[in-house]
Amino acid sequence: MAKRKKYKLKFDVFLYLAVIIILIIFAKKGINAYKEYKYHKTTEYKLITQGYTKKDIKLLDKYFDEKELKELAKNKKDTTLLSLMNSKYYLHKNLAEYQEYYDVNANKTPDEIIQIVNIHRNHEYYDNPIDTDMDKGYGIIVNKYYHLSEDYEPDDLVTISTKYSWGNLGSQKIRQDAYDAYVNMHEAAQSEANIYLMVNSSYRNYKDQQRVYNNYKTNHGEAYADNIAARPGYSEHQTGLALDIFSIASPSQATFKDSESYKWLLENSYKYGFILRYPDGKENITGYKFESWHYRYVGIDLAKKIHDSGLTFDEYYAYYIEKN
Ligand code: DAL
Ligand code: ZN
Repeated sequence: MAKRKKYKLKFDVFLYLAVIIILIIFAKKGINAYKEYKYHKTTEYKLITQGYTKKDIKLLDKYFDEKELKELAKNKKDTTLLSLMNSKYYLHKNLAEYQEYYDVNANKTPDEIIQIVNIHRNHEYYDNPIDTDMDKGYGIIVNKYYHLSEDYEPDDLVTISTKYSWGNLGSQKIRQDAYDAYVNMHEAAQSEANIYLMVNSSYRNYKDQQRVYNNYKTNHGEAYADNIAARPGYSEHQTGLALDIFSIASPSQATFKDSESYKWLLENSYKYGFILRYPDGKENITGYKFESWHYRYVGIDLAKKIHDSGLTFDEYYAYYIEKN
């Protein structure tokens, strides 16, 4: 009898345990099913079903809010969008313009589209003039999209000594810091490479620039003028930070690019805060024919960064200076 009771007890315990285990299994299944049901409702799941990978979603998350992601999840994976976002100089504020430009230029690569739109090259020159941001200090940009007001004149212009520039004393002026940097560079070129640098154009006010531009226009037509000279208000020379630099040994525009002086400047000018502003082969970015003599003072730190980036100033400005 005692034995039977013991058996029954054992059987009861077994039964209870079995029921509990079955309950746990069902509960777990239920929880998992619920979790899956909930997951299927998420935007991430919808994006995955549209072809996006987890890596894509991480990237999208960086730029879009939940509402925008939900919209995206309504359509199949947008490979154009992803390749734009994966491009090094992608700026999210420009997305709509990248897409618009891509729609009519599908033969261009994402990198090309981004380069063009970042510098506004998807718009005609001079079509949408932007007042340049004067708060950028020596990082100020002036080109065919960003201009200065007619009356802008720097307040720290100094006269360049005739030891370093052609023309009458007082005819060449530049901002103080740019002048100090130029003198250092001049001395280094002389002591390191026996090159005697000379400036032949420096600060030009709005009216001076108008004369320069109109002169080309009258003699050679608008297209020719626009290729080599800025319209008034759009010249870096008005910033007081640009210098046209030649040397005693190579004073001619036509041959300066083949000179030792040009080579020395190309390799060393950034150490003094200057960058070559209109490089060879970058005409469609800078808007100007290669000018082996036109240097722009931006300060030593910035000049090194621009030099190391391998970008033109227009591209560098769009990505690193303007966006901040
Ligand atoms: N030659 C340069 C582009 C200027 O006129 O400012
Ligand atoms: Zn110049």
